[in-house]
Amino acid sequence: MGEKILVSGGAGYIGSHTVLQLLLGGYETVVIDNLDNSSVVAIDRVRFLAAQYAPNLSFHQVDLRDKPALEKLFASEKFDAVIHFAGLKAVGESVHKPLLYYDNNIIGTIYLLEVMAAHGCKKLVFSSSATVYGWPKEVPCTEDFPINALNPYGRTKLFIEEICRDVYQSDSEWKVILLRYFNPVGAHPSGDIGEDPHGTPNNLMPFVQQVAVGRRPALTVFGTDYNTVDGTGVRDYIHVVDLAEGHSAALRKLADPSIGCEVYNLGTGKGTSVLEMVAAFEKASGKKIPLVKAGRRAGDAEIVYASTDKAERELNWKAKYGIEEMCRDQWKWASKNPYGYGSPEPAT
Ligand code: NAD
Ligand code: UD1
Repeated sequence: MGEKILVSGGAGYIGSHTVLQLLLGGYETVVIDNLDNSSVVAIDRVRFLAAQYAPNLSFHQVDLRDKPALEKLFASEKFDAVIHFAGLKAVGESVHKPLLYYDNNIIGTIYLLEVMAAHGCKKLVFSSSATVYGWPKEVPCTEDFPINALNPYGRTKLFIEEICRDVYQSDSEWKVILLRYFNPVGAHPSGDIGEDPHGTPNNLMPFVQQVAVGRRPALTVFGTDYNTVDGTGVRDYIHVVDLAEGHSAALRKLADPSIGCEVYNLGTGKGTSVLEMVAAFEKASGKKIPLVKAGRRAGDAEIVYASTDKAERELNWKAKYGIEEMCRDQWKWASKNPYGYGSPEPAT
């Protein structure tokens, strides 16, 4: 039996893809999730895709802020490491409900760290975000850039990064890897798991996908006057399967005796504009995406993409897929599951 990994938020978009990858890599995984922004169907689909490895996945519907439940779990099982995805992530909502975001994301993380320490589990991989680069002065973004945040969601990521650095400073037994994701898109190539946000999608590709399946009439393009190739914002889109692979690489790195608290970008190093992304999706899906041009969205940067050097050098990890594969797999998921996990069972 391989190492046992606790995955918080493992029923969510990135978590479910990572859990599948871990199972296929021989890890035993225990998922905790309160299902606030996910469905238990995702766990069932991961089990299906993991085939003979499915028995190595267990699921507990637990809220991170339920400290007694965390205590109980850690008292009954020994974990080699924790991958911590659980958190709320809607930027606009965080502006209106800052205390909810600080409570859920920060208090939840503090409880998790306390219970981990109490049970001698001091290896952590945390989901941070490129949002901590704000509007970067230059690109590509390297991990040593100054960090700042423009909204409560971003501040939760920034504060949790700082909390992790402080915890490591106080106790060098901790090994922590902070992964700054750029823009995760796409789905598992089977089309059986993918992103299924509750409510109106905030991010570009979930919105595009809902237009393609007829759930929304048009995509609103936020900003057409940026200093970019076509006036629209440029981002570093990364296939979620590549991102999941980055977590396996981070877990391997945690075995390195020299690691303390380290931060790595997970991106492709390539920038793509909104219109280029829409064109790639139209090509992959054969669907026309009607566009409505609008002003800039508050808090948006012009161009953000990653320097991938550090992750390549130290994690021995590099993204394999380009936007063609991202759009192909996103469409496979969308066309098989137009209403996400609420859709009828896929015919696999
Ligand atoms: P997601 O919403 O699909 O997954 C997060 C999961 O955490 C959900 O299943 C949700 O139900 C669960 N959760 C939330 N609060 C919880 C709590 N208190 N207790 C237990 N479970 C809880 O989001 P995702 O896209 O998979 O993102 C995973 C992580 O990566 C998040 O921390 C997010 O902020 C971060 N991140 C995401 C992106 C992105 O674009 N998707 C980019 C950068 C960083
Ligand atoms: C957004 C968040 C960021 C978060 C990240 C991943 C904001 C200001 N930033 O980043 O904090 O870490 O998601 O969850 O919300 N776009 C449209 N129309 C849409 C949606 C998006 O034109 O309906 C454009 C945006 O203006 C941007 C690009 O598409 O240029 C990508 O947007 P999005 O997917 O929301 O990601 P980020 O802006 O990078």
